[in-house]
Amino acid sequence: MAINDISRISRPMLGVLAVFAFPALAHAGARFDPATHQFRLDGGAVTYAFGVNSAGALQSLYWGPQLAATDRLEAVTPPDLSGMDPSSSITPQEYPGWGRGFYTEPALKLAYPNGARDVVLTFVSGHAEGDSITVEMADIARPLHVSLRYTIDPATGIVGRSAIIRNDTAAPVRIDQASSAAWSLPQSDDYHLHYLTGRWAAEWTLQDRAITQGATVIESRRGSTGMQANPWFAIDRAGLTSEENGPVWFGALAWSGSWRISVDRNPMGDVRVVGGFNPFDFAYRLKPGETLETPVFYAGYSDQGMGGASRLMHHFERTKILPQSSAPKLRPILYNSWEATEFAVNEKGQMALAEKAAQIGVERFVMDDGWFGARNTDHAGLGDWTVNRTKFPNGLKPLIDKVHSLGMEFGLWVEPEMVNPDSDLYRAHPDWVINFPGRPRSEQRNQLMLNLARSDVRDFVLKAIDDLVSKNDIQFLKWDYNRNWSEPGWPEVDPQDQPRIYVAYIRNLYGIFAELRKRHPKLEIEDCSGGGGRVDLGIMGLTDQVWTSDNTDPFDRLSIQDGFTHAYAPAVMMDWVTDSPSWVNKRTTTLDYRFLSAMQGSLGIGADLNKWTETDFAGAARMVAAYKQVRQTVQQGDLYRLIRPTDASERAATLYVSPDRRQAVLFAFLHSSTKYDPQSRIHLAGLDPEKQYRVHAIDAAPGAVGETQSGAYWMRYGADVSMTGDFQARGLVFEEL
Ligand code: DGJ
Repeated sequence: MAINDISRISRPMLGVLAVFAFPALAHAGARFDPATHQFRLDGGAVTYAFGVNSAGALQSLYWGPQLAATDRLEAVTPPDLSGMDPSSSITPQEYPGWGRGFYTEPALKLAYPNGARDVVLTFVSGHAEGDSITVEMADIARPLHVSLRYTIDPATGIVGRSAIIRNDTAAPVRIDQASSAAWSLPQSDDYHLHYLTGRWAAEWTLQDRAITQGATVIESRRGSTGMQANPWFAIDRAGLTSEENGPVWFGALAWSGSWRISVDRNPMGDVRVVGGFNPFDFAYRLKPGETLETPVFYAGYSDQGMGGASRLMHHFERTKILPQSSAPKLRPILYNSWEATEFAVNEKGQMALAEKAAQIGVERFVMDDGWFGARNTDHAGLGDWTVNRTKFPNGLKPLIDKVHSLGMEFGLWVEPEMVNPDSDLYRAHPDWVINFPGRPRSEQRNQLMLNLARSDVRDFVLKAIDDLVSKNDIQFLKWDYNRNWSEPGWPEVDPQDQPRIYVAYIRNLYGIFAELRKRHPKLEIEDCSGGGGRVDLGIMGLTDQVWTSDNTDPFDRLSIQDGFTHAYAPAVMMDWVTDSPSWVNKRTTTLDYRFLSAMQGSLGIGADLNKWTETDFAGAARMVAAYKQVRQTVQQGDLYRLIRPTDASERAATLYVSPDRRQAVLFAFLHSSTKYDPQSRIHLAGLDPEKQYRVHAIDAAPGAVGETQSGAYWMRYGADVSMTGDFQARGLVFEEL
């Protein structure tokens, strides 16, 4: 790949109309044409292009299905439409500062000590190498610099963008808003926005609304990612896009703190997505010489509908985001004690559960909350990461040894960012929590938040968890986080610098994860926040799997998991089989139903095994063995949402197809038979039409097994999956002969 570079150029050198043409062979990676000052990224089936216009601004040119290498684009600066709609406001800028006349969502807004509060960025230089581009921008009047970073993933065409803001002036500059990127969509008036919302035990609800004039804002002001909304979006075209066909633009922020994504349609009808740090209460004071780097905002395009978009995301997460992306390991089947015991853990009880878990083929035994300090309820103990000697008189070693002797890995629950006021840690360091001086410290779940932005607190947390993992033979941590921020103060620093907590906390959190992983390369971590309250591409880069939701009802889980997989990979989605009736809603379901619901992601078991019958153990052992036969396909294959649980159907179905298309796994569910529902056929997808596939069942239900047909038959004629009754489920595996 050729490297193109230009040094500083002056604005008069830029033509009014620049033409963009690359050599026919160069059709992948990043390119910069110094003659026209235009940039192009090609990867997967996508082209992303932008260039410098006659005003010196960086202007979006194209984002969509791949163009020919010879295609020419033009960076035409739109003239003022009127005095009300100046060119500066209607130009689709790559990174607009709030300055000149600019009336929609800026990427950057700041304030100088003398009261000036505008910033107008123009192009300084550009550089392309491999799959990456760097563009240097500067304010027209002050040495305030912004480096824009772009990378494209050659496999999926997903572009990652971020910005580094550098204050080269002699005085502090207050950054009020710093986004990672502004994404401009091609002109169209039929866009629909999809995004994910929720609350505790009801995360991952897919929303859908037309993009009309004005802005839609999805955000978290909670200090962390949050359940209220997730930093992911997808935009499709009404009437053109379906689950498997048509254009979809999508993206997700790699940030686990407060964030905001704004989707607006300006008066010209142009749709732009701007996202990054949440500007609410931000006010980040950048001292002379300091930089502020935004999170990365990843975004992509698919012409294969919402299904194609999520398959690209899943592939990208597995191969580029997750810590094990270079050599992904299959997720072990885990047992977790929480729903069985809650805080009442002890050596004898955990050993008994471990023995039973091992009998059914569990590979990793995880002891949840309650093992440390004075932790008998959620009122005390957080912060005191020493073993409770009443519950474990000989420490954790006997339990860990027992678990290992049963052939399982050992995992432990921790919630290191928190402290109960009733704890030795808080009694010793009441100043360590996030607080506003002289104001009440609001407790949530009876706990306060440690201020990880402080280096002494960060060091304490790292040491506490490092000691725990070093002194005990622990393979896995479930890292929980059970409240959001309130009174977000940092009294030890200058009041003007206190809002830096929004960035410093998360960076230190990431630093702790990175350091723990470095010191303990075999340690795996599950990201949990009272369920799926902190799931994003930032934390995903440092953890191996996520707890999807505290709602473990297997029917509720169908729609929760459906929402989740729009953005995130089934491999990281932890799904447990728990007891029936469900604690959530008292719904009764069969063990097979519960397993088939949970087998659509990374399987875990969270039931009270002490209550299980011999039949339950036999059924569970059969399903665990079956999962082991298909988990590679489920975790590393392509997901097709054949019938969504929210469709106007009593049924729901997902299909997972292995990358080599030799195995496909169908999970089908019937909510309730009404008026004798005669529909039984389900059309598969993603198979090789020429190959023969034989079907067998995972579940114990009779029928529809043993048949061999072509991939074409299963996809076009369909598989007969008849179910009658309420809360029925089938699991069928199609193996290439
Ligand atoms: C919230 C988690 O989501 C649960 O799975 C469990 O770990 C509890 N915290 C423990 O307090």
